[in-house]
Amino acid sequence: MTFQNTRDFAKQLDAQDHLAKYRDEFIFPKVDGKQVIYFTGNSLGLQPKRTKAYVDEVMEDWANLAVEGHFYAEKPWWDYHERFAEPLSKIVGAKPSEVTVMNTLTVNLHLLMVSFYRPQAKRYKILCEAKAFPSDQYMIQSQVRHHGYDPNDAIVEIHRREGEHNIRLEDILAKIKEVGEELAMVLIGGVNYYTGQVFDIRKITRAGHDAGAIVGWDLAHAAGNIKLELHDWDVDFAAWCSYKYMNSGPGNASGCFIHERHHADKDLNRFAGWWGHNKARRFKMEPDFDPVQGADGWQISNLPILTLAPYLASVEMFAAVGMEALIKKRDNITAYLEFILHEIDKEVDSTFEIITPSNPEERASQLSVFLHGEGRPLFEYLMKNGVITDWREPNVIRLAPVPFYCSYEDMYEFGQILKKGIIG
Ligand SMILES: Cc1ncc(COP(=O)(O)O)c(C=O)c1O
Repeated sequence: MTFQNTRDFAKQLDAQDHLAKYRDEFIFPKVDGKQVIYFTGNSLGLQPKRTKAYVDEVMEDWANLAVEGHFYAEKPWWDYHERFAEPLSKIVGAKPSEVTVMNTLTVNLHLLMVSFYRPQAKRYKILCEAKAFPSDQYMIQSQVRHHGYDPNDAIVEIHRREGEHNIRLEDILAKIKEVGEELAMVLIGGVNYYTGQVFDIRKITRAGHDAGAIVGWDLAHAAGNIKLELHDWDVDFAAWCSYKYMNSGPGNASGCFIHERHHADKDLNRFAGWWGHNKARRFKMEPDFDPVQGADGWQISNLPILTLAPYLASVEMFAAVGMEALIKKRDNITAYLEFILHEIDKEVDSTFEIITPSNPEERASQLSVFLHGEGRPLFEYLMKNGVITDWREPNVIRLAPVPFYCSYEDMYEFGQILKKGIIG
């Protein structure tokens, strides 16, 4: 499609957009009384209007039923989490028994490492991306230390080539081969938080397995954003947060995937708790742990229903719309944003370098823009003028045109505000 940098053209795209009606299902903050252009759904998604009803329902059941709510609430609390299995499994491409919700992302990665990072004399190294999200770096460092290894030896990072912003797939595959028999685990973010680069989960997982390693993924920036087929791609485990693309609210619960081939493995260590115990016998208060067969068997505590309520509202919305439709719009609106950036770039005296891959296969709902010749004041100008984006050192703004609620006209309008911010 040939794009045009005009309001009329953007409006035309909005008129043809089957998802446009969902924009009205979200609550947008306002700046100077005007609805913002929201580019930070990759950090914290907007609040869906329907979410409050899900939370109110739990508050009311708690008020009216108190402890009886565990069994007699509108959606009983004791198995509330089971409502996620079906919709969540569709979002990440899994069987319902392979997904669960619990805790928060970094906590879950730690818990999954208990099961899946089992270093042996020769095979003890973990391969990850250089400049991974800091929490992942701290998590992996503390895990290898916990097992008595030196992070400088046990952690192998895959670097970008000199002068390049993204990691080449061929370099990841080569590194996996090179570490070979010493490789215990590959653990990478499915979408890099800084550049927005999407990694080839299927190929990397296969290469890790060929080397005899376990392969896990941090899907914080991938869940609800990219097409995932975790079961078919044979991923061992994965975890994600729900507050970014999945719009579940600040700091909210994480989701986990554990491939079914691990479910019955009695040799896997896990930190156990009563909520992972055989559902039919949980309230018999038996002394010996008998895990639920499935990802729910990794749960530890009874679940925080008030935080699951907004997450449930979100997964049900995703189920109604479907990832396919979201991905179709995502690709088009991201391409339109890219076009707008290039158009404005031609009109102003500074250059924007989009460091996210230009290949649609290697990117999703994020363009990271390196501002040559412009700095933080431009970012602050955007924020003051109703463009909500974020700043990452040394000179990058990240723009996520989330397909659920961003419009094509937003992209056009953003271009105009950006131009004004530079040339005055
Ligand atoms: C890629 C990635 N990993 C891990 C985290 C940490 O998440 P949490 O604070 O929920 O543990 C984040 C948070 O933004 C992230 O983007």
